[in-house]
Amino acid sequence: MTETAPQTIYLKDYTPFGFQVDSVHLTFHLSPKATRVVSRIEFTPQPDAKDKTFFLHGEQLKLIAAKIDGQPVSPAVTPQGLTCDAPTEPFVWEAEVEINPQGNTALEGLYMSNGMYCTQCEAEGFRKITFYPDRPDVMSTFTVRIEGDEKVLLSNGNPTGSGEGWAEWHDPWPKPAYLFALVAGDLINHPDRFTTKSGKDVELNIWVRPGDEDKCAFGMEALIKSMKWDEDVYGLEYDLDIFNIVAVDDFNMGAMENKGLNIFNSSCVLASPETSTDANFERIEAIIAHEYFHNWTGNRITCRDWFQLCLKEGLTVYRDSQFTSDMRSASVKRISDVIDLRGRQFAEDNGPLAHQVRPESFQEINNFYTATIYEKGAEVIGMLKRLVGDDAYAKAVALYFERHDGQACTIEDWLQVFEDSTGRDLSQFSKWYSQAGTPRIKVTDDYADGTYTLTLEQSTPPTPGQPDKDPRVIPVAVGLLGQNGDEVRETEVLELTEAKQSFTFEGLSAKPIPSVLREFSAPVILERETTNAERAFLLAHDSDSFNRWEAGNTLAKESRIAMVLDGAAPDADYLDALIKLVRDDSLDPAFRSLVLSPPSQSDLAQTLFERGHTPDPQAIYDAAETFAQTLAEAMTDSLPRLYADTTVQGDYSPDAASAGKRDLNTRILSLLTRLDGGDQAARQYADADNMTVQNAALASLLKAEKGAEQSQTFFDQWQGDRLVMDKWFGLQVACAAPAKAAGLAEDLTKHALFDMKNPNRFRAVMGALAMNQAGFHYAGGAGYKLLTDNLIALDALNPQTTARMCAAYQTWKRYDDTRQGLIRTQLERIAGTENLSRDTSEMVTRILN
Ligand code: PHE
Ligand code: ZN
Repeated sequence: MTETAPQTIYLKDYTPFGFQVDSVHLTFHLSPKATRVVSRIEFTPQPDAKDKTFFLHGEQLKLIAAKIDGQPVSPAVTPQGLTCDAPTEPFVWEAEVEINPQGNTALEGLYMSNGMYCTQCEAEGFRKITFYPDRPDVMSTFTVRIEGDEKVLLSNGNPTGSGEGWAEWHDPWPKPAYLFALVAGDLINHPDRFTTKSGKDVELNIWVRPGDEDKCAFGMEALIKSMKWDEDVYGLEYDLDIFNIVAVDDFNMGAMENKGLNIFNSSCVLASPETSTDANFERIEAIIAHEYFHNWTGNRITCRDWFQLCLKEGLTVYRDSQFTSDMRSASVKRISDVIDLRGRQFAEDNGPLAHQVRPESFQEINNFYTATIYEKGAEVIGMLKRLVGDDAYAKAVALYFERHDGQACTIEDWLQVFEDSTGRDLSQFSKWYSQAGTPRIKVTDDYADGTYTLTLEQSTPPTPGQPDKDPRVIPVAVGLLGQNGDEVRETEVLELTEAKQSFTFEGLSAKPIPSVLREFSAPVILERETTNAERAFLLAHDSDSFNRWEAGNTLAKESRIAMVLDGAAPDADYLDALIKLVRDDSLDPAFRSLVLSPPSQSDLAQTLFERGHTPDPQAIYDAAETFAQTLAEAMTDSLPRLYADTTVQGDYSPDAASAGKRDLNTRILSLLTRLDGGDQAARQYADADNMTVQNAALASLLKAEKGAEQSQTFFDQWQGDRLVMDKWFGLQVACAAPAKAAGLAEDLTKHALFDMKNPNRFRAVMGALAMNQAGFHYAGGAGYKLLTDNLIALDALNPQTTARMCAAYQTWKRYDDTRQGLIRTQLERIAGTENLSRDTSEMVTRILN
């Protein structure tokens, strides 16, 4: 392979391709080590094109033959693609290439997973299948013929013919190459049907390897619910005769929205009560919805270029969060989303990897499938909806589909439909797309003569390449409470547009208590000096469940920070308030569980860092332990009753109410384990008839260092199930004490079932290590060294997953000099690795700078 210096690609350099693709015909002759791909593509040169070069992307392809209009040609081939003289009139390009699916460990392009062929083309994988203008703004209809011995041969669109050893597919909807997919294997289907609102009958299938057919029913239900929901809420109907989902064991991401043929990481579709936890069920439902929703937001309307990735991802994440809110509890979903946003996106936005929701340059697009593009991208849509209102949002989105169906679009197109349908100027709003970083809002208040004044001051810290930021428009939802806890002003959305701005509320008889940023109406960090008494008041009385939770979360954080910095004891008032809430049977168990869930140790580290302290991961861990122990002891009398009350009886059902109750039960069990040495957890483990309670019991036991026996029986029971084995690998590392985490993770990498080539297994061990804050950052740096050894080894096989895991180091500058020195050594070791992939090289360079 020829090495080339990494090249930076800029949004400002966008130029359309100089040729239109009128049709694509592909024939695949499948063979594990030498698949032949024959392409026949009709091109029409664009007379007005600025760039008339006939360049086709192509990587790792062996060119066998190429023809233009039937005449052999000899293109100039480089590692990136080929150029060839092309006619000025419409012409037919034909090529035959050979590829090696078996040798493809990067899992990009056509590869093999457990004996089946499958593809992954987003973002730029199609160029590893054949020579093609592999860019999202080049759209065409595809006809595909597959020849192979496998029982099932699938591609996009509708089936148009099949026989012994072959099948043909035609996709009538023009699409970019990144939505191409092919699957071939001895698969079994779980079938169903759906009738769309206009009466079209659609065949649905989930395809799995034999043995997994009993794990499809839940996914199928989720698919049908998603199809119905998109019709009901967005008026969007499915547009082919068939919709196929395939479960694949080796997959870099969660799932992929290929037109009519979604390909899923098996962990994101296969579900059964015995093998999946409540969290798995909820995630599967959301991901199935997400991929299905892409059919309109992503496929029918796609992205002009990869800088516009958030156009499809932010919107689709927003849509799947709406779906989950409708299917389950909206307030629980909002709180969980904010926890996730703070854990992943805020960490990114406040470190060396910070980037815009719409970036303006990149080296490797695979490195931009980030929490900022996805989750912040979704937050931006939520803010837009809040600013214009629900009806205006619905109208603007309808205009978007009407105006842009079949096109490859930009963020400007998206904002334009809102401007046109509402008359509102969104130029300041667009800064949410162009400015990186998390805004801080400083809140101060004042009360005099019946008037309450709230002053909001915004600023955004510098991020790489963006030292100065302009004020943005920020929707801040605010409500006011009276001293007795009643709401004296209902929620109102304040539009903060200036750097500093005051808002007044008149006619109040006493100074109110403000509830600011209700529902977390903007992805910002609120800075407000207030008393614990006021937070406790909001925790008890706020009618906005997000802010109620937030008040408790802030108290929890402040208490732990005082423990870390001043050696204080856990805050007694907070403990009282917390216990009262947990015991309050009138509250939703899922909400009580969220209130009981500790703030993340990474979040605490970040907050300490921002306040000018150097976080000590071990001290943060110790504070969390002391807090939990104190809480457990203070609840000694009530824990057994609470445990009994929250134990779900009867047959397992993954519904939200049962899952919420089990979640609370799990938190109670972990407290109980601190008092009874694991007796209850051992009983729960022995009696478990579903994975949620089995997994919870094992976690509690491992945490207490009492789970050796159960860990072994768990292994014996589940060693034949790859997905459950991922849990076994991950849980041990996640629950390990700080001093033991790295050593244990290292042992697990030597286990016979550890397989670096399987991204799920790699992430189970290395991801769990990186998440175990005190373990990963344990003095001496064994965690850093282990992760680095593994990243270097994996990079040669799978750059995409390696690069993504490098983000474990993105917070390194928070820590003390010794830790920074240890991490720098490891980062430099990665950077100095010979033949390092473009993916990993870009990540390490950005993290180091
Ligand atoms: N587009 C996929 C999604 O968000 C994610 C993905 C990206 C999958 C790149 C594979 C490769 O649904
Ligand atoms: Zn997506």
